[in-house]
Amino acid sequence: MIHWTPRSVWLRAFPTSTDEMAGPKDIIHFAIPEITDGDVEAVARVLRSGWLTTGNECLGLEADLSEYLGGTEVVAVSSATAALDIALAHLALPAGSRVGVPAWTFVSTALAAVHNGLVPVLLDVEPTTLNLAPDALDADIDDLAAVVPVHFGGVPVDAAIHKIAADAGVAVVEDAAHALGASDERGRIGSAGTSPTCFSFYASKNLTSAEGGALATDNPDLAAFARSQRLHGMDADAWARYRPGARAGYDVVQPGIKANLPDVLAVLARSQFARFDATQARRRELVERYRANLTPAGIESLPAEQVAGSADHLMAVKLAAGIDRDAVMDAMSAAGISTSVHFRPLHHFSWFRDQAPVGRRGLRTCDELADRMLSLPLHVNLTDADVDRVCERLVEVTR
Ligand SMILES: Cc1ncc(COP(=O)(O)O)c(C=O)c1O
Repeated sequence: MIHWTPRSVWLRAFPTSTDEMAGPKDIIHFAIPEITDGDVEAVARVLRSGWLTTGNECLGLEADLSEYLGGTEVVAVSSATAALDIALAHLALPAGSRVGVPAWTFVSTALAAVHNGLVPVLLDVEPTTLNLAPDALDADIDDLAAVVPVHFGGVPVDAAIHKIAADAGVAVVEDAAHALGASDERGRIGSAGTSPTCFSFYASKNLTSAEGGALATDNPDLAAFARSQRLHGMDADAWARYRPGARAGYDVVQPGIKANLPDVLAVLARSQFARFDATQARRRELVERYRANLTPAGIESLPAEQVAGSADHLMAVKLAAGIDRDAVMDAMSAAGISTSVHFRPLHHFSWFRDQAPVGRRGLRTCDELADRMLSLPLHVNLTDADVDRVCERLVEVTR
């Protein structure tokens, strides 16, 4: 049975208007996007231009990201979910093929496989990072056609994941929803030599277009497939058909989906991207301040130490065993501080519990940590004093 959350519950949990979102001033939001006057002007310019859907701004965003990723092709889409969907569709695996996914992820990672007629196999994660555990992948690799590792919180997965998959000839699609700006021994996640990589520009991400995403790949065949697939399988997009002087015709060459990124959204991400290095640097300062406060107070961050190549998307802490996380969240909330949970492991949701097979190593780490992980506010609107206030309160309520 499907239960929709009553509106009254949503009203208690979330601001009811953008005005309420902005104030009162002493509320510390979990993830509030930084929108500058320049961002607003950029969006207004597109709104006034007469061209709202996918066009020049989308092409510009793709070019900006491609340059950042060292020349790999970037196809902007409507979400990371769509990017995952498209990357898996391109593999053209037989229906029912098994795709390994960490059970510690957002549902999209696994649902993209389901949308393609594939079977997600839930695999356990490493207790130190909550990233896919190499031994869990290894135990199931012979039965898998593909694997979708997730760079949880922006921390790149262990290099062993890529090696295990490559040695077994198993395709990899990287869920980098948290990981724009992250890098590992291969270079930037999404750069040449990495696997097809799916980024999210959802409202809470380090770079946002409100909703949006991108697929980065050095495989020209996949890039061409994605450009067509995001637009019903057409061989020409609206910009190619309707810009002045263009020819209006198109063919449909594959049964695609509707997942293009409109210019009115692309321009927001583009405007934000111009200061991405600076906002990433500020996120790093904030997580370092969190660790400097929390570690001496005996609160364990995850990962415990700063990872050099992390995109610093989440500030996750592991509560001591036996602490009631809901009570902690309520107490933080009462102090005007919103927190979140990343993630409820997939097999704790009814559909996955009933339908998704579990890997041979089981899901012990996911089960052990399911009620212990807490995500603290992390966004560039935070001041150092905000971080100190969050930490002081957390230390008090977990004592
Ligand atoms: C790990 C992970 N994968 C995929 C997604 C889906 O991203 P989107 O909302 O852009 O589809 C999310 C969203 O938060 C995520 O956290």
